[in-house]
Amino acid sequence: MTRGRFIALEGGEGAGKSTQARLLGEALRARGVAVVITREPGGTPGAEAIRSLLLDGVAGDEAGWGARAEALLFAAARADHVARLIRPALEGGTWVICDRYLDSSRAYQGGGGGLSDADLLDLHRIGSEGLLPDLTLLVEVESVEVVRRLALRDTAGSDRIGGREQAYHDRVSATFRRLAEQDADRFARIDGNGDPQEIHARIMSALTPLLEASAS
Ligand code: TYD
Repeated sequence: MTRGRFIALEGGEGAGKSTQARLLGEALRARGVAVVITREPGGTPGAEAIRSLLLDGVAGDEAGWGARAEALLFAAARADHVARLIRPALEGGTWVICDRYLDSSRAYQGGGGGLSDADLLDLHRIGSEGLLPDLTLLVEVESVEVVRRLALRDTAGSDRIGGREQAYHDRVSATFRRLAEQDADRFARIDGNGDPQEIHARIMSALTPLLEASAS
């Protein structure tokens, strides 16, 4: 049994990752590839419960999680997700498309929240035995376009992390860019401006090497 491939989609708020995860899943299934689409934080019942602690907050706790507790909760959610869904799927030959993964922790809790990259990688080693995607698609969108998309999407208000100040989100985007530059073999940078089908076409061309390697 050939191991499945692991593809993560990363980027800031309103980058269109969820739509692209769905389009990519459909394109791979049309080629006869078994695919599971999942997301972080979440993807398993335990990780979804942690998601709600992180994004909805806790009644009576207005201050919210500190940066360290937040990073540990994301790592705990990821540990459950990897052990119960991602690894078993890959080992069974299914491809996994994940809407956000480790690099979101490095960009948000690291770049945004000020934790060191080494600490976040340690948490990932302890929680998930360091499992990395085969390919990480970083979807990058101009900030004016993001403001427009979020105004359409988040009419009921943004979540606890999405609603942080612009300077936080600017540090997140800069960190994503730096991570992609540092590890050009694992990352593909995708221009996320334009309509969903155009962006999907860019993603499919970034996937060509993986698809060719899997066919041979
Ligand atoms: P979600 O509604 O899934 O956001 P989006 O549609 O923008 O992807 O919410 C996930 C939020 O959690 C988002 O603000 C990014 C944040 N996050 C982290 O801060 N660290 C992480 O490790 C992950 C996976 C997400």
